[in-house]
Amino acid sequence: MILKTHQRGQVLPLPVVLISTISKAGIRNVAPWSCVMPILRPLDEIVIASWIKRDTLFNIRETGDFVINVPPASMADAVMICSKNFPHDVDEFEEAGLKPCPSKKIESPGVDGCLARMECTLQEEIAREKYSLIIGKVVYLEADDRYFSETDGMDFENAEPLSAVVNSGGLRFTRPVYIKKKADHSEMTLK
Ligand SMILES: Cc1cc2nc3c(=O)[nH]c(=O)nc-3n(C[C@H](O)[C@H](O)[C@H](O)COP(=O)(O)O)c2cc1C
Repeated sequence: MILKTHQRGQVLPLPVVLISTISKAGIRNVAPWSCVMPILRPLDEIVIASWIKRDTLFNIRETGDFVINVPPASMADAVMICSKNFPHDVDEFEEAGLKPCPSKKIESPGVDGCLARMECTLQEEIAREKYSLIIGKVVYLEADDRYFSETDGMDFENAEPLSAVVNSGGLRFTRPVYIKKKADHSEMTLK
């Protein structure tokens, strides 16, 4: 089938993260985000796409930092609360019942209970008429020991990281499943 413009979002399953920020006035903010992409490997830089009217974007411009939190599927209800359009002066941690977690290197707090927290500083904003691309430098990344190991990476069967697929009516939350196939790093690197 040929997809109409408004149906195109459904072909790419996307990760769901929570971006947490703080305004200059000290108001904490959390918002779900799916248009998030690491810039190659290792995860030194990451880009997020933001519509212009986002408190998240205002805060990042004001303070120059943000946290990308990887929530478990069990946080889906809180994620949906954070997706509401609250006024700029509302603390969205309180609205969603989320606990802030002090960051190590930046001002913006992380979200307690997430599988991993990437502390990022603003490197560059590529501004377009209706959206901006924010390139962040990952200055600190902490992951929950219960779900990560040096050798095997994320134990995602137990961690249950949140993802989503879109349809014309909205989105459905999903999570990744291992299909018992592997690829070595060497197969993905130029020889
Ligand atoms: C699963 C999910 C993914 C989202 N991804 C994005 C995104 O990539 N970029 C964006 O600008 N808004 C995205 N949104 C919408 C924002 O989360 C939403 O508008 C939120 O209210 C913005 O909050 P803020 O104004 O406090 O930043 C997404 C919403 C959901 C539920």
